[in-house]
Amino acid sequence: MTNSWATFGADLHLEPVGRGLRAGLMAALREAVRTGRLTPGTRLPSSRVLAADLGVARNTVADAYAELVAEGWLTARQGSGTRVAQRSAPRRTDPAAAAPARPARPGAGYNLKPGSPDLSAFPRTAWLRAARKALTAAPDEAFGYVDPYGRVELRTVLAEYLARARGVHADPERIVICSGFAHGLTLLGRALRRRRVRDVAVESYGLDLHRDLLTEAGLRTPCLPLDEHGSRTGELSAMRGAGAVLLTPAHQFPTGVPLHPDRRATVVDWARSTGGLILEDDYDGELRYDRQPVGALQGLDPERVVHLGTVSKSLAPGLRLGWMVLPRSLVGEVVAVKGVSDWMCGSPDQLTLAEFIASGAYDRHVRSMRLRYRRRRDELVAALADRAPGTEVSGIAAGLHAVLGLPAGAERSVIQAAAFQGLALEGLARYRHPDAPAARDALVIGYGSPSESAWAGTLDALCRVLP
Ligand SMILES: Cc1ncc(COP(=O)(O)O)c(C=O)c1O
Repeated sequence: MTNSWATFGADLHLEPVGRGLRAGLMAALREAVRTGRLTPGTRLPSSRVLAADLGVARNTVADAYAELVAEGWLTARQGSGTRVAQRSAPRRTDPAAAAPARPARPGAGYNLKPGSPDLSAFPRTAWLRAARKALTAAPDEAFGYVDPYGRVELRTVLAEYLARARGVHADPERIVICSGFAHGLTLLGRALRRRRVRDVAVESYGLDLHRDLLTEAGLRTPCLPLDEHGSRTGELSAMRGAGAVLLTPAHQFPTGVPLHPDRRATVVDWARSTGGLILEDDYDGELRYDRQPVGALQGLDPERVVHLGTVSKSLAPGLRLGWMVLPRSLVGEVVAVKGVSDWMCGSPDQLTLAEFIASGAYDRHVRSMRLRYRRRRDELVAALADRAPGTEVSGIAAGLHAVLGLPAGAERSVIQAAAFQGLALEGLARYRHPDAPAARDALVIGYGSPSESAWAGTLDALCRVLP
């Protein structure tokens, strides 16, 4: 071979192997990705440059790239060239990668872990349009140090949107912008500690990250039992030390059940009679499918409920934008905790989101994502009925995840078998509060996570590993 290697911008040594130029080049690229020398997102040289480096015909390189795109190792997007796909192959630490030489699996690297929307659907064009308009109109002071409340333009638009779409009692003066739900919860934890609250009750299944944020603020997190009607809020009155409770009322995370109306009333009664606070995590409230929207709990008593929202499911978690709609009595305390040096979310993004919502682009995006996720949810249910009949599916009326029941004792082995095949799954046990009794074996399937092009293959991979 005239030229057996090429040096990329990233100084990568590439050595085509085996017979045939195209096949050899493909094998070398796969190997470089598999071993981590080419990391996800790395831009590859254009086919013209690489062909010149290797002394081969440009078509040879272009064909190799195209085939690796089809296999899922690379992605090609107009304007941003050919790149290593985000999940192109099992990493070196994965059991699949450590296994003795297995043939490269087309499309390996599927992900059904919950927590993320389809990032490939981020509305880039509409967001850029909103950014251009917002930044063109922004006053000079918008580029100075940020107000701890957040930009008034965003708070004003959010007050109108949340009242309309989620039934929240909101006015701009009681809204504080934060860098996603996690930041809001951190601030609330600190404010509650300053009020000398010791315990914040949490649901017996939920995110450990959120429990940890409260613990870091010096709070204890006793667990509230959960059943098919949501958290058993009637048991709060027996939890003497609890000064607040963290709930996911519209769509319990991860079980997916909405909080029963009686239990909504019970928790509000508890808060009124004890002076307690309800922290309402409305993380995916807009993404509802079969039933009438479950309005925000905050609408029942705006002085006892903190409503927390985020764009992490509706748009993208990378934006780090969220909001708190606070009881009036708490606004000053939360802003004081935030202080003058908590500059967590920049004004340009806040102004862009304000414009994005005001222009109607947010509503349009949510509507179109709702259709996409509902279709996936329906395809998931249909595929299970066809290929894994008897699998019980629940929590599917809203959101981006579903719970799939498994035979007793099967959770870990199914997850391991899936990992071996390049499919990342999460089990229900992962979300159990340490003090909660173990419940059924199940998977929490994040059907929102795959890109549209990866969805069919991911669903197929799931059906293959189910018992
Ligand atoms: C239960 C729950 N709450 C809130 C969030 C959003 O968190 P953040 O806004 O910090 O990204 C998520 C995201 O995965 C979630 O699963």
